[in-house]
Amino acid sequence: MSSKQHQIIGSSAALKETLAKAKKVAKTVLPVLITGESGTGKELFAQFIHDQSRRAQKPFVAVNCAAIPAELLEAELFGYKKGAFSGAVSDKDGLFVQAHGGTLLLDEIGDMPLQLQAKILRVLQEGEVRPVGAKAVQKVDVRIISATHRDLTEMAVEKKFREDLVFRLKGYAINLPSLRDRGHDIVKLARAFLKSRDDFTSTGLSRDAQTLLMHYHWPGNIRELQNVILAAAVDATRNIGAEHLVEHLPDAIDVEDPSMSVRERITSALQESGSLALVELQSRLKTPKATIHRHLSGMVAEGDVTRSMVSGQPIFALAESQCGGAELQLTQRQEQAVALTRAHGRITRQELAEALGISIRTSSREISALVAVGALTPDGQVGRMAGYHVGNQTNLPHSMAHQHTNHGR
Ligand SMILES: Nc1ncnc2c1ncn2[C@@H]1O[C@H](COP(=O)(O)OP(=O)(O)OP(=O)(O)O)[C@@H](O)[C@H]1O
Ligand SMILES: [Mg+2]
Repeated sequence: MSSKQHQIIGSSAALKETLAKAKKVAKTVLPVLITGESGTGKELFAQFIHDQSRRAQKPFVAVNCAAIPAELLEAELFGYKKGAFSGAVSDKDGLFVQAHGGTLLLDEIGDMPLQLQAKILRVLQEGEVRPVGAKAVQKVDVRIISATHRDLTEMAVEKKFREDLVFRLKGYAINLPSLRDRGHDIVKLARAFLKSRDDFTSTGLSRDAQTLLMHYHWPGNIRELQNVILAAAVDATRNIGAEHLVEHLPDAIDVEDPSMSVRERITSALQESGSLALVELQSRLKTPKATIHRHLSGMVAEGDVTRSMVSGQPIFALAESQCGGAELQLTQRQEQAVALTRAHGRITRQELAEALGISIRTSSREISALVAVGALTPDGQVGRMAGYHVGNQTNLPHSMAHQHTNHGR
């Protein structure tokens, strides 16, 4: 039933939860409103719900409300009678009638003109359409799925969308998770895109490439991933490396330093143990010695880590500045970061970057610094999902320990 073409790839908790909702609502005829950022798979999910429903053998018709000029959209949706307007040389069924018995996807519903919204509302209430130029109405039985990347409720407040229509469309709401919140699905999808193409079946992904994929913020979500992977595959002779990906990422400047997660893990291992030898770090981090060594050298050069010889063996420890002294000095931005985290309860690197208007790389640095001094505590999630909350650090400046803010969004 659901052909390979419609396969939804991914096994992250966020995706599984969404899929479970889609399966449940597919068994009903409730209208479904699918929201999500651009490229998250709204159309794919609409098709999936149809395929999983009792209407699977009936038509699935999709219309992109943003792509059709307002004056044509009504005729397109409701059909018309011969002579209704110049060019109407014969009767034509609208998409509602074409979808009879099946499902109609009103894609980009947020872009539907207000005046047409009133007519759509009537169809949903009465279950009948009146073609342009017709006297009589026609009964239709159509399951409505609508999709948009806009916030209809907010649009309704601004009077840009009818509130009563929002209620009608939102029989059941499904919000698709952004790709950056789907963890390892990113790599799975990337591999699947390569596999699906005859020309790239033997192309693999290097470790660096995987790390970078997991750390990039994917504003264009799955569609962007698909484009970037295939373009990088053209450049790669065998395996795709981080350098091939960076070429095709529009926000390359903002790509988080892929070394960040290794550095974070080194920092927290040193925090726990005080000091460690290279081999000890290697076994704790389960990361090749060469990789750890490369990052350690950087950290030593930047003054975050100290290197000392003990019995002829180099031992690494966090530099004094990273351990937090009796008197903790935070920069203004770090203070802001702590205040924001307190206001939100929990914050991710991406959220902090957005809130402060800084790059993800800078946001990650600040968070690492705050974690190192105990001002923030990681919540144990990894990669982009990693969240931080305000630590139990007692030597925070007095003013901050009790500060309340109104920074909530
Ligand atoms: N989980 C997934 N598994 C496999 N392919 C996916 C998945 N999600 C999306 N895709 C693919 O990504 C592309 C974008 O998906 P789709 O067009 O459904 O997104 P959208 O949310 O409607 O995007 P837009 O907001 O830009 O219209 C499609 O080629 C789709 O098949
Ligand atoms: Mg779409």
